[in-house]
Amino acid sequence: MTIIASIGTGNMGRALLTGILDHDPGLDVRATTNSSASAQALSSDLPNAAITSVEEDPEANRKAATGADFIFLGVKPWMMAETVRDLAPALSPDTVLVSMAAGVATADLQRLAPGSPIVRIMPNTPSAIGHGVIALAPDDSVTEANASTLQELLSGAGLVVPMPESDIPAMTGISGSGVAYFFLLAEAMIDAGVKLGLSEETAKQMVVATADGAGRLMTHNPDPASLRKSVSSKGGTTLAALDTFIDSGIFSIAEAAVKAAADRSLEMEAENAASVG
Ligand SMILES: NC(=O)c1ccc[n+]([C@@H]2O[C@H](COP(=O)([O-])OP(=O)(O)OC[C@H]3O[C@@H](n4cnc5c(N)ncnc54)[C@H](OP(=O)(O)O)[C@@H]3O)[C@@H](O)[C@H]2O)c1
Repeated sequence: MTIIASIGTGNMGRALLTGILDHDPGLDVRATTNSSASAQALSSDLPNAAITSVEEDPEANRKAATGADFIFLGVKPWMMAETVRDLAPALSPDTVLVSMAAGVATADLQRLAPGSPIVRIMPNTPSAIGHGVIALAPDDSVTEANASTLQELLSGAGLVVPMPESDIPAMTGISGSGVAYFFLLAEAMIDAGVKLGLSEETAKQMVVATADGAGRLMTHNPDPASLRKSVSSKGGTTLAALDTFIDSGIFSIAEAAVKAAADRSLEMEAENAASVG
């Protein structure tokens, strides 16, 4: 049976494991956190996983990692160097390290864990409900069999898109961080509805249902421009709103925002490279 160790299981690690275990509840999953309070909270979300904390057992990470086929690294980027160094005695060339950290380059992970096959992934939080988007960039030492097993495991959490590592910053800009842009637009629309006299509860309910409907339509017809044009009658209400968005620079705002996230990902790679030493 495939064994997964999840070292650092917070928002993102939990989202991924939830999606993976919903798809394949029989997997052997060991998950760790720093504090025992977080471990306890995680137990109710992941009843089929063995959960331990470093606070209760300083060896928890190494114990979870020993003998695992895949080690998911879900600690914050700045903790990656310390965490991987601490895991070193538990690593073997057969164990694949899977890093989800934004802004930690594969080359730095290779320096931290020489001889370990490494996969850099970039997931997003809808992975928890099986609707994530997960970029997958294996290094040259990952066997095809391991890459395809990992892809199959992650498919429980959403759409898996293999890509070269060099595409990860752009992917982070549109997808890893992108979920939050839709939340921001929803917040702005709710505020606008309230300003026009709707109750906050009604505005929220309608915006959330509208976002859900729009998402589902795009899944059926993945061409947002044609969907937009199909609801933009000349002289109508939708076109009045869309012209306002476009005249106010929505395309350049989105371009600048996505570029800011991608640039920040590269900056973080440089900062974290310095901490790897
Ligand atoms: N959140 C996102 O949308 C997102 C998207 C893409 C990628 N990522 C990446 O995912 C990673 C995790 O982010 P997150 O948002 O999930 O952060 P988070 O919620 O803070 O989770 C971090 C986890 O690491 C645990 N931890 C801290 N020190 C540890 C140690 N020494 N040993 C074992 N576990 C330890 C924490 O435990 P305690 O709770 O006990 O402190 C917590 O469970 C980051 O590298 C981030 O770049 C996140």
